[in-house]
Amino acid sequence: MRRILVLILLFPLLSGACAPHSATQLDAQLQTAIQDNRLAPLQPAPEVSPAKLRLGQYLFFDKELSGNRDTSCATCHQPLADTVDHLPLPIGTGGTGVAPNRHLGPLKPLVARNTPALFNLGQPEWRTMFWDARVEQTDDGALIARTSQGPVTLPPDLENVVAVQALFPPSARAEMRGFKGDPMRDSPGDVDIFGRQNEIARYLDNDIPAIWNGLWNRIVAIPEYVDLLQKAYPDTPVDEMGPQHLVNAIAAFQIDAYTFTHSPWDEYLAGDKHALSPAAKRGAILFYGKAGCNVCHMGNLLTDQKMHNIAAPQIGPGKQPAIEHRDYGRSLITRRDEDIFGFRTPSLRNVTLTGPYLHNGAYDSLEDVIRHHIDPAAALADYDVMHLPPEVRQRTWISEGVNRAMLDRLDPLLQVPADLTDEEISDLLAFLEALTDPAAKDLTKTIPDRVPSGLPVSDDPAVMQQFLQDKPFVRHP
Ligand code: HEC
Ligand code: HEC
Repeated sequence: MRRILVLILLFPLLSGACAPHSATQLDAQLQTAIQDNRLAPLQPAPEVSPAKLRLGQYLFFDKELSGNRDTSCATCHQPLADTVDHLPLPIGTGGTGVAPNRHLGPLKPLVARNTPALFNLGQPEWRTMFWDARVEQTDDGALIARTSQGPVTLPPDLENVVAVQALFPPSARAEMRGFKGDPMRDSPGDVDIFGRQNEIARYLDNDIPAIWNGLWNRIVAIPEYVDLLQKAYPDTPVDEMGPQHLVNAIAAFQIDAYTFTHSPWDEYLAGDKHALSPAAKRGAILFYGKAGCNVCHMGNLLTDQKMHNIAAPQIGPGKQPAIEHRDYGRSLITRRDEDIFGFRTPSLRNVTLTGPYLHNGAYDSLEDVIRHHIDPAAALADYDVMHLPPEVRQRTWISEGVNRAMLDRLDPLLQVPADLTDEEISDLLAFLEALTDPAAKDLTKTIPDRVPSGLPVSDDPAVMQQFLQDKPFVRHP
């Protein structure tokens, strides 16, 4: 009897000694994983002149860059909403309200893909932008961009993929550019918030040079911007500048404002053994071991920047609404069969802040995302559209045929073991939590009080209404 009692009392100690659960054992195992995967803390953002950052900040928040003067980068990448909008699918020009309480304007479409976060864009590893990597830095260092209509002509002297990326939202009709008239449908085309013609809407979708020529003219019509441009680039006369000077500044601002290098994971990588809870350590060991997440979520940004088909539920209008609301992902750019349904592995930095998740925001919770990776077929079968906002739900058409086509082509690298226990999933979640830098939780200080166009910085409809009341002279030029 006494012997049994002793055994019962000793059991927790004995079992603890068998499984690698003591702090030092966990650290030793994790150290091996860190070495094998050659991981290091993130690097701080490079030094940039205050004038260039100020120019970039103003442009990021200035609705002057949208055809209808009603949308800025921050409309979707809202600092008060963690540089995203917390909507499955974003709402651009014509919409009203501040993310995530933003709603579609009359006759305006939803944007087809989820808004990605803007964290740590200055890390030297970045080679691609967008869910389909249509902006890319090639191995020889060249910056290229392609759309489904082919290669895009880019201005010279772009500094990085982030600057190339910034050329595109103002050219996308549903995001920032607005729509031109269509005589066949008797539609007059968009006007800006003052009722004036939207002169940016008339160009062809792929004509980035013409669209940006129009935007450049708008910006240099505002004396404060001319002054800022000269201060930001003191060695070049403004009349020798062009759109590249605008997007290089926008990129510099995003990198400076949204780089966060002190997540518990970075602190651990820098040598602080107490920065992670035991659960987060177990989660990291799983991530880089049994669960195989690092096969795709590799490196310091936790992405290989390659495209994979994990059979995400297809929700929203997709890129081809006419045929079953599908989004064929990367293959729309490359026209290659093997790229069908391929989407770029997202970085998992600060991922606990940036839901909903996947290229179309199909899931609200990280646990659902992990369970999808474990068993995509079961997750697709169980997928419930009822949690989606009505505007997305009404534009969703789940198709058995598309689900089967996605599962048939599932990426062979997606071999997350089906026997991950609930405890292991919760350990993985603890690791994902450790990828969030607490300093990234409040981005209020990155928002300017005003912008040089004088347009409202906020998307609050009351602010917009008040602004239009106060400025009748602008409304009737
Ligand atoms: C209407 C909402 C909306 C607006 C406005 C908007 N974006 Fe985005 N942004 C998105 C969406 C959606 C994507 C992903 C699109 C895709 O991959 O097909 C994206 C992608 C990006 C990315 C790529 C991130 C990555 O990891 O690949 C960056 C950077 C970015 N936007 C910055 C900007 C800037 C700068 C502006 C203003 C010039 C802007 N965005 C305006 C919704 C928006
Ligand atoms: C085969 C490559 C691959 C493997 C292995 C993999 N993932 Fe992913 N993961 C992806 C891709 C690709 C996406 C985006 C797919 C999409 O949007 O259609 C994604 C999305 C995610 C997201 C959503 C992030 C966001 O911002 O939307 C999380 C979280 C995630 N993965 C975690 C994990 C974890 C944890 C594991 C291991 C259990 C794992 N992944 C294994 C490729 C992979």
